[in-house]
Amino acid sequence: MSNSVDAGRFNGRTIIVTGAGSGIGKATAVRLLSEGARVIASDISQPRLDELASESATDSLVIVPGDVSAQADVDKIVAAAGGRVDGLVNNAGIMDAFLPTAEITDEMWDRVMGVNLTAQMRLIRAVLPTMIDAEFGRIVNLASEAGIKSGASGTTYSVSKHGVIGLTKSTAFFYGPKGVRCNAVAPGAVMTNIEAPFQSAWAGERLGPIMQTTIPTPAKAEELAASICWLLSEDSANVNGTVLMSDGGWSTV
Ligand SMILES: NC(=O)c1ccc[n+]([C@@H]2O[C@H](COP(=O)([O-])OP(=O)(O)OC[C@H]3O[C@@H](n4cnc5c(N)ncnc54)[C@H](O)[C@@H]3O)[C@@H](O)[C@H]2O)c1
Repeated sequence: MSNSVDAGRFNGRTIIVTGAGSGIGKATAVRLLSEGARVIASDISQPRLDELASESATDSLVIVPGDVSAQADVDKIVAAAGGRVDGLVNNAGIMDAFLPTAEITDEMWDRVMGVNLTAQMRLIRAVLPTMIDAEFGRIVNLASEAGIKSGASGTTYSVSKHGVIGLTKSTAFFYGPKGVRCNAVAPGAVMTNIEAPFQSAWAGERLGPIMQTTIPTPAKAEELAASICWLLSEDSANVNGTVLMSDGGWSTV
């Protein structure tokens, strides 16, 4: 079954999507454009952004190459919105080679935390003043199945996504009264380009049997885009600080 597009529901809205060159971010950017939004699409990969632009062919798309873990690039992304930010999809993320705690390298830890967690905080921090002034803001952070349990990734990725959930709830708590809603979507397995190499024999032994027997059929990126866009829309008006498990039921196992 395909997702039904709700043409016009984001008319007049400016929405930032990070990691918009591939997978869930790209599907979200494409859907938002088809539903009337002006989209500030950012990604570390210029070729992926160029491909999105050539496929979309619309004036409503602004592409901003940049690394979300760099404050200067966060500033660039927010500046491109031009003083109006109705929505933010904190989507850019990377995995951690499934390293268990004893095998974590400082380099891996810093990179994964920087991209998956610190960047989300910095983007939220940067857009909040505009959203508070407008008394309107819709933020969706990409968490993960690994944000609510172990057994779905390495330790670092799991910590970063648990952090995303804390960031989401705390932001919702502090700024709900200012018209800002902040929610998270937690995907299970999704067919995208995310790189997920197993680099630990022990992790393979522990995670292999769980993954082979418990993960439902991987979802399509468009199915996650539908969940994200619902949280950006006014159909979720009473929803703030929640974690929407969009995982085909994996969390029930
Ligand atoms: N695919 C899954 O199974 C799955 C499961 C749970 C959660 N997620 C989460 O969903 C989000 C999207 O992942 P995806 O599966 O679509 O991956 P993807 O690799 O297909 O797309 C992610 C995009 O982010 C970009 N990116 C990576 N690092 C960046 C950086 N530092 N700055 C800017 N852009 C950067 C990449 O170039 C890529 O285009 C991530 O936060 C990921 O953790 C994915």
